[in-house]
Amino acid sequence: MSERVIIFDTTLRDGEQSPGASMNTAEKLRLAVQLEKLGVDVIEAGFPAASEGDFEAVSKIAEKLERVEITGLARTSVQDIDLAWNAIKNAKKPRIHTFIATSDIHMDHKLKMTRDQVVTSAVDAVKYAKTFTDNVEFSAEDGSRSDRDFLCKVFQAAIEAGATTVNLPDTVGYAIPEEFADLVSYVRSHTPSIGKAVFSVHCHNDLGLATANTVAAIKAGARQAEVTINGIGERAGNTSLEEVVMTLHTRPNFIPVTTGIKTEHIYPTSRLVTMITGMMVQPNKAIVGANAFAHEAGIHQDGMLKNPMTYEIMKPETIGLSANKLVLGKHSGRHALKDRLKDMGYDLSGEELKMVFKKFKELADKKKHVVDEDLEVIVTEGILRTADTFSLDYLHVTCGTTVLPMASVKLQVNGRPVQGAGYGNGPIDAAFNTIANLTGTSSELLRFSVSAITGGTDAQGEVTVRLSENGLIALGRGADPDIITASALAYLNGLNRLEYLKTHPIVESI
Ligand code: KIV
Ligand code: ZN
Repeated sequence: MSERVIIFDTTLRDGEQSPGASMNTAEKLRLAVQLEKLGVDVIEAGFPAASEGDFEAVSKIAEKLERVEITGLARTSVQDIDLAWNAIKNAKKPRIHTFIATSDIHMDHKLKMTRDQVVTSAVDAVKYAKTFTDNVEFSAEDGSRSDRDFLCKVFQAAIEAGATTVNLPDTVGYAIPEEFADLVSYVRSHTPSIGKAVFSVHCHNDLGLATANTVAAIKAGARQAEVTINGIGERAGNTSLEEVVMTLHTRPNFIPVTTGIKTEHIYPTSRLVTMITGMMVQPNKAIVGANAFAHEAGIHQDGMLKNPMTYEIMKPETIGLSANKLVLGKHSGRHALKDRLKDMGYDLSGEELKMVFKKFKELADKKKHVVDEDLEVIVTEGILRTADTFSLDYLHVTCGTTVLPMASVKLQVNGRPVQGAGYGNGPIDAAFNTIANLTGTSSELLRFSVSAITGGTDAQGEVTVRLSENGLIALGRGADPDIITASALAYLNGLNRLEYLKTHPIVESI
């Protein structure tokens, strides 16, 4: 029987550290439910010492999920470990994840600690965490740039103190696959107690090698991979879950291991992360990019028609990208909608269902087929974003070749109606100028992009914006069959996220 690789998902912790990708508690909960459905083994739900918002989200996720392990990150301090434990203590399967840097550069310049002090701190932290739970993970931050023998010494001490998983991060994305695999082999063979713990790796993508390094490490014996959906994360991101899982799935002879991932949920999960965070996936991204299964060249298309395996190493259905999706239309009733939403992971209250049904009917009037992606938009925008400061009541634009583009807008600002009108050099500019006046924002629009959620001319347009204000960065996303409305929704979502960041400051960062 092939060995199992534990999939440790850190989209909600390391992934959320991507600039602008912050999520509110409702959004985090929704994503956690989807990650459980996807079949990940461990969810790193946050860093409870970072902010009250993080603590609250981790606690709620720990209370709600039943099958998956829930972990919270903690530095090696008593205070961090207390906060992490308090946040996860109601989980069915809690795990404390504590870490300290082990490279000379981090110990000398960041921690200002000697090697011996770092070993003591790691051991004390693991021992303290063990007073709460048996399930303790220890990470050696910047492990790939640490002295090999020192790394073995720290891991040995952490395991003897009770760590059940030891994690080797390539924190700055510096490693090369052969070298990283060699490091894994070295540490596994020079740490006497390594057999008592699961060996884990955690890679970053600064050189575009995160997946290659993770796969090489698994080949060399690592049995836990720390990953994020769509590879989101700080700087160039983390190892992408879908790339590692599909590599293992597609090349079982190269590495005879399995995972618990139900691959058909990969694509819907990827979409959900995009929808919630506003971080779009590049079209040529492996596995989940819009072009990942598109064959343009004539010679490829000819081969594909004769036999899909000529150019296709994976089937789109395997990741949940199916041409035969379940579609609802304007005649579908409340029960059909409720069942579909339940299957997607939403258990809505009567009031919520009423609201979603109303929006669904409005959309079905504009668009013949309503698919899961459309429903996901209605729920993420209508329910998960309920605590919004600004919402759109009304938008009217006039534009064309002979008129000055003008927008009239009515908003709710903290439940109070405000309205106004404004001009711009196009309808979107006019709408944005008016919204900026009504909200009084001083934010700057750094990026604006439009794409289509599904195929066809009646597809919903999906707009993302990137805003900055006093050093805070927020992404906003909106979708609607009308791209000007989608743009206004994206802008308001970005402004709401900025408001959220102002009221939920990060007090501690890694
Ligand atoms: O990249 C890193 O080193 C981390 C650790 C905290 C595991 O995210
Ligand atoms: Zn990391």
